[in-house]
Amino acid sequence: MSNIADERGVPVEQMFSAIASRYDLLNRVLSAGRDRVWRRRAIAATLLPPPGRLLDVCTGTADMALEAARQFPGADILGVDFSPAMIALGQGKVARAGLAGRIRLQVAPAEALPVPGSGFDAATIAFGLRNVPDRARALREMHRVLRPGGRAVILEFTTPPGRVFRRLYLWYFHRVLPRIGRLVSGHATAYSYLPASVADFPPPEGLSAWMREAGFTGVDYRLLTGGIVAIHVGVKGQGSGDESRSRKIRNSNFEIRA
Ligand SMILES: C[S@@+](CC[C@H](N)C(=O)[O-])C[C@H]1O[C@@H](n2cnc3c(N)ncnc32)[C@H](O)[C@@H]1O
Repeated sequence: MSNIADERGVPVEQMFSAIASRYDLLNRVLSAGRDRVWRRRAIAATLLPPPGRLLDVCTGTADMALEAARQFPGADILGVDFSPAMIALGQGKVARAGLAGRIRLQVAPAEALPVPGSGFDAATIAFGLRNVPDRARALREMHRVLRPGGRAVILEFTTPPGRVFRRLYLWYFHRVLPRIGRLVSGHATAYSYLPASVADFPPPEGLSAWMREAGFTGVDYRLLTGGIVAIHVGVKGQGSGDESRSRKIRNSNFEIRA
């Protein structure tokens, strides 16, 4: 399978499996609880029509899937991730929430989604695309599994545009976060891999261009929390002439506040 490696050459799947048990705790601590708000906004941006079918790629411990089930009570949700340890933790959370009938989780790579057709109303990926070696292929896969008119929503870290906030944030991200991450997770490099991988990832305009290349129309994004993260939305067109409809979807519905 896949793999960008971290700075010691450890495959990404092994890295995520190794930190899985501390992953949720570190998300809450390192983002001061903002990660929940970011996922909430990203799921809201799917505008899932009832009853709705949603695919969450790189689902990890299933926080996006659980949030989708909360916001869209009739939705049928599939989450995929290549880390068996993350999926196992996610399955525990889904069972404890009594949602095993509505959320299915499966071990699978983002670059070859285990879904034959194109029946999903929305495909989401949160803090995942950055880690995927073949991002173009993952985006094409998200596009493939959507029905015409379906929406892809990408939640990902980015670098704040404001000069003063950016300096402060980068100091925290590169100096403080890796230390706390190392201490709590017990993993030597996973939380220095995080800022390094964000630095390697394109800015929001670059990701928008990738989405267009993968076939999405009406691509738009919003920055949240001073530009620490961005939510991108793209629509699978219904064929030529559909661009105007995509724009309408974007202009009327993509309302996300930081
Ligand atoms: C930072 S976590 C994000 C998890 C979750 N989406 C969230 O919001 O907390 C990234 C996840 O992507 C998964 N992942 C990375 N590369 C992948 C790939 N190529 N295929 C499938 N999953 C992948 C990892 O196993 C990990 O669970």
